Amino acid sequence: MILDKNLIIANVDKRMFGSFIEHLGRAIYGGIYEPGHPSADEMGFRQDVIHLVKHLQVPIVRYPGGNFVSGYNWEDGIGPRESRPRRLDLAWRTVEPNEIGTNEFAEWAKRVNAEVYMAINLGTRGIDAARNLVEYCNHPSGSYWSDLRISHGYQKPHNIKTWCLGNEMDGPWQIGAKTAYEYGRLATEAAKVMKWVDPEIELVACGSSNSSMPTFGQWEATVLDLAYDHVDYLSLHSYYGNPENDFSNYLAKSLDMDSFIKTVASICDYIKGKKHGKKTIHLAFDEWNVWYHSREQDKKIKPWSIAPPLLQDVYNFEDALLVGCLLITLLKHSDRVKIACLAQLVNVIAPIMTSDRGTAWAQTIFYPFAHVSHYGRGAALHAVISSPVYDSKDFTDVPYLESIAVYNEGNEELTIFAVNRNPAEPLLFECDIRSFTDYRIIQHLVLEHEDIKAVNTAIFPNRVVPHNGGNAQVQDEEVTALLSKRSWNVIRLK
Ligand code: AHR
Repeated sequence: MILDKNLIIANVDKRMFGSFIEHLGRAIYGGIYEPGHPSADEMGFRQDVIHLVKHLQVPIVRYPGGNFVSGYNWEDGIGPRESRPRRLDLAWRTVEPNEIGTNEFAEWAKRVNAEVYMAINLGTRGIDAARNLVEYCNHPSGSYWSDLRISHGYQKPHNIKTWCLGNEMDGPWQIGAKTAYEYGRLATEAAKVMKWVDPEIELVACGSSNSSMPTFGQWEATVLDLAYDHVDYLSLHSYYGNPENDFSNYLAKSLDMDSFIKTVASICDYIKGKKHGKKTIHLAFDEWNVWYHSREQDKKIKPWSIAPPLLQDVYNFEDALLVGCLLITLLKHSDRVKIACLAQLVNVIAPIMTSDRGTAWAQTIFYPFAHVSHYGRGAALHAVISSPVYDSKDFTDVPYLESIAVYNEGNEELTIFAVNRNPAEPLLFECDIRSFTDYRIIQHLVLEHEDIKAVNTAIFPNRVVPHNGGNAQVQDEEVTALLSKRSWNVIRLK
């Protein structure tokens, strides 16, 4: 690998390290909020969860959905709790008690030092509900909705900057799903009035739910053709899994994310060209993660309860390796991907798990995310990489080495993130850091485990944790390290 501090892909937007909390399963109720829990604060927020979320340094959290938002009346979640309705949530077939709504979530976000990334309902609602919500959240005072917020005890506006225009509107499972034309028109009209209420906001239009959708490509082109002048970002969603239990193919799935991003960026540029547009549409990869472990067990959950244990994937060591590869892929595209949200944050396909009344702990995927969030801030560098490759069931020429480096000019730190995908052999890593003279290794973190299926649980929360004992060395501007078979590595230099 060759690195040069002048060869920069982009300064990584801090929103790259975002996450997502939906009114789904035990994300809110029993996750971030559990009045009566020994660690709950005066608003019922679990401090043990806050502590772990803060460790991840998540700067922005998407809310309140997800599929949930397409049937959500935001007005149900404001004002006195005793008069808030219980509603059927048709997206997840549960009952939503509305104990947590816009104001409480904004309060929680403050406690974890994050901004709210708000989604509006373009399934059952539309332009009017959208503009009212912007007014409720962002208008200082002197209008019906802003004064109502003040009467609810929130004198200062929440000033929510980033908004998404609905969720996965192309999916037949979505409440109020739409054709690309129907959605493009509605998103445009909602966007116009939302920006009239607050011209400072930025808007994300829905791309396809995933790249296998039959309308993928055409959806993006049609939506942007209609909404180009009114939106700033286009969304991408993707979840990966290893149901076939094929390690080598599974770890190659970040190549799919790579080509997904390239394709969507090309479509954005095609529409830009067609419109002789000046602005570039950036990408919001606002749902990404591993999701497959819980799919069978979820089919057995009875409908219409409050906060059932839905989507509770228990992540193993190989999942952490794939999450590492996905994070590296996102950084490689930091010139186009400005927002990314690990979906999700607590209990629901999440790095953080809780037991009722009990503890909160970090799943395996918590660690690569935390490392990249801590040390991946700065300028992502172009890396020239030459690696041995392999073929798997769905991919060819998969490099054993997946890697990127980020240079933080402020503290003069260079961090190399690297995955060795080889399941059986260590990999000799050699990196020419020619422009970083006199740099020394300050840490080489490694996440490795003999058992690729090892998991962290409430009883054994520390089975899969990183250690500090990597063997990276530097001499004459060349870093060398023997990367253990199937391992995640963070090599920090200064
Ligand atoms: O994150 C879980 C679900 O996945 C979201 O609600 C939806 O947007 C996606 O299909």
